[in-house]
Formats: sequence, C-alpha cells, structure tokens
Amino acid sequence: MTLQDVLAAFLFAIAIWCTSYIRKQHRLPPGPNKINLFRTRFKAPQVSAENPLWKQYAELSKLYGPVVYLGLGKAPFIVINSAKSAVDLLNKRSRIYSDRQMTVMNSELTHRGQTVFLCSTSNPRLVQYQKMFREEMGVNSVHKHCKTQEQEAKSFLRNTLNDPQYYVQHLKTVAGSIIMKVTYGYTVEPHNDPMIQLVRDWLATISLKALPGYWLVDSYPILKYVPPWFPGTEFHQWASEQNTLLEKMISTPFEWTRRQMQHTDPTTINSFVASRLLAKPDGSNDAYDDVIRYGAAAMYVGGVDTAVSVLEAFILAMVLHPEVQRRAQEEIDQIVGPSRLPEIKDRPNMPYLNAVLTEVMRWSPIAPLGNTHRLTEDDVYDGMFIPAGTCIIPNIAAMLHDENRYPEPKKFNPERFLASDEKEPQDDPRIFIYGFGRRICPGRHFAESSSFALASGLLATFNILKAVDGEGNEITPLVEYENSFVSHPKTFPCRFVPKSEAAAQLLTDS
Ligand code: HEM
Repeated sequence: MTLQDVLAAFLFAIAIWCTSYIRKQHRLPPGPNKINLFRTRFKAPQVSAENPLWKQYAELSKLYGPVVYLGLGKAPFIVINSAKSAVDLLNKRSRIYSDRQMTVMNSELTHRGQTVFLCSTSNPRLVQYQKMFREEMGVNSVHKHCKTQEQEAKSFLRNTLNDPQYYVQHLKTVAGSIIMKVTYGYTVEPHNDPMIQLVRDWLATISLKALPGYWLVDSYPILKYVPPWFPGTEFHQWASEQNTLLEKMISTPFEWTRRQMQHTDPTTINSFVASRLLAKPDGSNDAYDDVIRYGAAAMYVGGVDTAVSVLEAFILAMVLHPEVQRRAQEEIDQIVGPSRLPEIKDRPNMPYLNAVLTEVMRWSPIAPLGNTHRLTEDDVYDGMFIPAGTCIIPNIAAMLHDENRYPEPKKFNPERFLASDEKEPQDDPRIFIYGFGRRICPGRHFAESSSFALASGLLATFNILKAVDGEGNEITPLVEYENSFVSHPKTFPCRFVPKSEAAAQLLTDS
C-alpha cells in the first residue's frame, strides 16, 4: 500500500464521518410521521375543489412550521409554505435546488423527462431550452410579440361583442391563438381547431397522476417488469397513452411549420419554430430539431391554460368589485382616450390597472403548487437536514395568502400594491408567482403583456356586469375553483355590455 493509498483512505473515512456527523446533528424537517407510499395511497388526502391540496399543505404549517417533511415511499418530499424559506432555498441555493425528479415513469416508461418542465439539470438540453426561451421571450426580446398579442386581443374582444355568453370559450381561443401564432406561425380555427385539440387531449391526462410519487412503480422500480396484462398495472396503460399523445402534440404543429417553410419564402414566416429552423447550424442532427419541437410545445403548454386562468380571475374580480373596475376604466380613458384601443406600450402609464392585475394573480393563485423541484446535494437549513434527492413542493398559493405578508388575504384589494404617503406597497407577489431559481417561468414577461392586452382591452370597451336571472335579480358569483393543476374559477355567468357605441365601433373597425 502506498502513502497515496493511505491518504485517500483517510480522506474517504473523514468524508464518511462528516456526512454521518451532519446527519446526526441535524434532524429532518418536522412533519407527519414518516409514511410509506402504500399507506399514503390508501389514506391519500381527499382533494376536492373545496379542500384543495395547497390548503391541506398550508394547514400542516400550523403544526410543523414553514418547511414540512413528508416521507412518501422512497422519495422524501418537503412542502415549503413560506416565501422566506422558498427564497432562501429555491432562489439563494438554486444551484442545488433546481433539478426535477427523474422517476421511472418520467425517464423510462414515458418521454416526459425530455419535456422542458421535467428536464433534469444534468441534461444538457436544459441549457439549450433556456437559451432559446431567453432569445424568444426574455425581457429584451418579448416586445417583438406585442403586435400579435394586440391583434389577437382585438379578435377576442370582437368575439365577446358578438357572443358574450361564450366568453370562456373566446378566452381559450385567444390564449391558444396568441401562442400558436408566435410559436408556429399557425392561425387557429375559431372552433374545434385540430392543433388545439391535440394539446387539450394531452393536458386532459395531466392530473394528480402526473405528480412524482403518484405511481407505485416510481417507488418500487422493479414493478416496471410486471407485464401490462397483469392486474394492477394501470401505470403501463397510462405511460403508453402519454407517449402517444405527447408525440402527436409535439410533432404535428412542428411538421406543419416545416411544410409551410417549403411552400413559402421561409424568411416571411415569422415564428419561433421557423426562425430556429432557419438558424439551424450546418451539420446539426435530429437532436437539434428535437430541442425545437419540445421547446415549442412547452411554450404552448406553459402559456395557454395560465393565460385563461388569469383572465377568468380578472373577470370574476371585475364583476364582484365594480368600484375597482370603474377606477381602472377611468385610468384607461385618461391615458388612451376614446379613439383607439390600449396598447401594451401604455402599460407603464397605468399604475392602477397594473395593481389590479397584480392583485388578481395574488388573490387567485394560478399555479398553486408551482412545479416540484429536486435537491441534488445534502443540505442543512435552519438546523434541519434535507437529504439529496428530496423533492420540494413550493406552496405558492400559501405564500400568496400568507396573512403576515398580505393582511386579509381573501380580500381583493389592488391598493395593496400602490404606495401612498401613509404606506409602502406590499411585496410584489411576482417573486413567487412564477416559480423559483433556475426553473423560474421563462414565459413570465410574455404572460404579463398578454394579460395586459386582454384586460385593458376589455375595460376599454365593456362594462363587465353581474348576470341577471329571469326576474331581473343580479346573480353574484361565488369565488370557487375547479380542482385542477392550473387553477380556474368555476364558470360563472356575467354580462359584457359595450361602454358606448364608439367603443364597440373600435372593435368592428378593421
Ligand atoms: C400568468 C401566467 C403564468 C404563470 C403564473 C406561470 C407560472 C409558472 C410556474 C410557477 C412555473 C414553475 C417554475 C418552477 O419550477 O419553479 C412555470 C414554468 C414554466 N412556464 Fe410558466 N407561467 C405563466 C405563463 C407562461 C407562459 C406564457 C409561458 C410560455 C409562453 C410559460 C412557459 C413556462 C415553461 C416552459 C416553464 C418550465 C420551466 C422549467 O421547468 O425550466 N409560462 N411557470
């Protein structure tokens, strides 16, 4: 044995000792008893629209503090219910807190691990995705989409003028058409668009079943060898359905753009996919196309449902708070005047409307549990030991409804975000609405301008009022939500009454 061998053995022993010392000194974060997946599957929390998962997780903090440990089978989970801990861990230590959990379901049984949302930090693709998004939707490039966002917003307003009772359908159409135009250069059919349907079909399968830890096979990988005909192997069917739907959703619009580029002067096709394909370096292979295909699909998946959610909540807030609506309309009238629609460049001049939109996103959390992060190295936080491999669920909704940060959190109050002589504005919730660290939402600037174009257009042209029943009584909608991954208020009736003939005329002018 050489001296070097002895030294190496000594250092190795020290490393082992340090690790076990740290583990002994620091305890795991507090939480309900370590429970195994078999039991949690049978005693799973009863998730319902009235009692969503985020509220159940938030309740745990009353007993255990802001960081709660849930041992689910082999995968340790922690839920973070406070903004401070989320920022401390997911932002300030983002180097080690930004991975995704590579479950057997995601990485072996389906191709979901290649999607942007689940791509591991160890996969070189992630850096390529992030670079593409920065170039397409970063703070310095996002303005190139304003024209499309404004034009599509105008079509939405026109549809709402013509068929106001179908406003939710119009919202879904406009959210899809903005993204499809920007991403693929594709114009969406007003009804039953086949490309939109592909995404809806895929999204319809995304539920609790898509969460890491849901399937037993994720905790007990040996189960993947059990043949699909064996009872209790529903995971095989789910995986196969995922692969078929994912492939269709990712390839169909991408191939459509590629065909357009063959028939038209490709430089005139202004879209994310076309410009990426045009910039394709000589000699690059199919892997390059694959990054574009998956990147493009992520723009659609990330951008559509979230846009609908913001606008539904905005409309609900306007129906319930006519005084807020009037004040925002006055601001728009003052800045824009009667002869044109608002434009995205007007946004910095409308502090009140901006405060309204900020409060909408706080009051009605869009992605209540964000997306799960995964820790890649052992860590110690506030005396708690968090082992490598732990999955972190940021409870964004709990942070947005934390009464210490946002007093009377259920109250819709845009004034929170306006400074006055007497008070400072409350914290801008964008620090957690769009997620954290290296996984922060790359579409956030795009989302802000889309929401502004749609909301300012609605207030410039309509009064949004309570619906009335057969006897002329106003119907006050309840603040209730669907039980879904991206949160949506339950559909409620309301009226869109043009503010004036001149306002309606703005929509019919070409
Ligand atoms: C108000 C609207 C939106 C909200 C509230 C929102 C929120 C979020 C959140 C919470 C995450 C998870 C971040 C994390 O893991 O910590 C996320 C990720 C993502 N969002 Fe958004 N988003 C919105 C709009 C958009 C838009 C318009 C796009 C694209 C056009 C988009 C594309 C994405 C993508 C690709 C990811 C995955 C990032 C990654 O895993 O690295 N989002 N978003």
